[in-house]
Amino acid sequence: MNSALNHPEEKPTILVVGGAGYIGSHAVLSLQQSGYNVMVLDNLVYGHRDLLEPLQVKLIEGDMDDRPLLDWLFTAHKITAVMHFAAYAYVGESVTDPAKYYRNNVVATLTLLEAMLAADIKTFVFSSTCATYGVPQIVPIPEDHPQSPINPYGMTKLMVERILADFDHAYGLKSVCFRYFNAAGADPEARLGEDHDPETHLIPLVLQTALGKRESIAIFGTDYPTEDGTCIRDYIHVTDLATAHVLGLEYLLEGGNSDAFNLGNGSGFSVKQVIEAARQVTGREIKAVELERRPGDPPALIGSSTKARDVLGWHPQYADLHEIIRHAWNWHQKRHG
Ligand SMILES: NC(=O)c1ccc[n+]([C@@H]2O[C@H](COP(=O)([O-])OP(=O)(O)OC[C@H]3O[C@@H](n4cnc5c(N)ncnc54)[C@H](O)[C@@H]3O)[C@@H](O)[C@H]2O)c1
Repeated sequence: MNSALNHPEEKPTILVVGGAGYIGSHAVLSLQQSGYNVMVLDNLVYGHRDLLEPLQVKLIEGDMDDRPLLDWLFTAHKITAVMHFAAYAYVGESVTDPAKYYRNNVVATLTLLEAMLAADIKTFVFSSTCATYGVPQIVPIPEDHPQSPINPYGMTKLMVERILADFDHAYGLKSVCFRYFNAAGADPEARLGEDHDPETHLIPLVLQTALGKRESIAIFGTDYPTEDGTCIRDYIHVTDLATAHVLGLEYLLEGGNSDAFNLGNGSGFSVKQVIEAARQVTGREIKAVELERRPGDPPALIGSSTKARDVLGWHPQYADLHEIIRHAWNWHQKRHG
């Protein structure tokens, strides 16, 4: 058992890299609520300084590829573990500009890991993705499903997973990789939420349409082999993701072996179901336009998260689609209304 957990008054300090972003900021809140001291490193390329203000967390504005900065940070502060959310995550852009993705998601992550090792920090929680699986052979997808990404974004995440396996073997660095499905929703009290620019995720795009910021929402493909013909995805509430990160951290601090876990809802919703639920939650008309399929979109992506439940004791609280959308809607109205 890690001594820091034996003496809760010591409150270990966790560095959250990419903590000014959507999922990272929710993890900061969950860590604080669990009694941890938290510091954030974020270059604010996509993050928002003001998101962190109500959390009163120390933000170091800088890049995870900046080795002198990391060496200073790890010397000046006693960091027990690192949670790593920082990445570029636009699948389409990763196809047209893969260099940008390999450099930030892989090379800069390597800089971070090497600086951690130099400072003898060997506990790491990593944001991976269901995109590492590629086109699913079975649904719900289990963790031992073959990993065969169909775009550079997914490949960068798989590469980091492989680096972490080798770093455990060679240097004893212990890690948990979380393969998220579609992160969705917002803090139930609307203190935090999603604010990507450009936005590519379905629920915020639907809500922007409800707010009148977009004329319509596009449905790409209505002839998939699903009940209503539209793609099915697994939407997991961002607060449940954040809770899983705290459990993953504690699993490692208690001596757990490096491992990978899916984080999903276990049940999927179609694009049309999401739009209809958003109409009910917002009470607004949301115009939808039916278009051709996009290349590379599998009909259904649903994850099996039984391993996270069994090993980490994770119990997602917000599985209901209407509740996920209601929380996102409260946030969107506050932020953009
Ligand atoms: N949103 C999803 O549905 C989803 C699904 C699967 C995996 N993920 C992964 O989860 C993580 C978080 O996703 P998100 O939606 O919160 O993204 P986000 O863009 O909101 O957050 C990422 C944060 O990392 C920061 N960052 C990027 N590169 C950096 C660097 N070199 N140095 C310092 N900071 C840097 C950005 O400024 C941003 O604040 C990403 O790694 C993403 O690939 C997200």
